[in-house]
Amino acid sequence: MPDNGDWIETCKAQDVGREDVKRWDHGDRSFAIFRTADDRYYVTDDICTHEYAHISDGFVEGTTVECPRHAGCFDFRTGEALNPPVCVNLRTFPAKVEDGLVYIRLADD
Ligand code: FES
Repeated sequence: MPDNGDWIETCKAQDVGREDVKRWDHGDRSFAIFRTADDRYYVTDDICTHEYAHISDGFVEGTTVECPRHAGCFDFRTGEALNPPVCVNLRTFPAKVEDGLVYIRLADD
């Protein structure tokens, strides 16, 4: 029996393309689920820290995502803002894959 604790099931791991991102909505929040070329999964907030844009509509290359609105880039592993106009890091969340499903753990706030 998997110990899900406060892990929340999101989507099938195979539904996220390699070196791609998928949007996942939960309550009134949106998250971006990333899969690297070597099948590691990461989750960030889906709303850019610059202005309003969904990061999951952006372009993924390696471990970087480029915002679709003004081309600010983030390292989705850490959320680090890499180039102007973004200067505030994206929030990241723990992610894991179990039995072919992606789970994330949300903070209490
Ligand atoms: S809204 Fe993302 S870089 Fe401006």
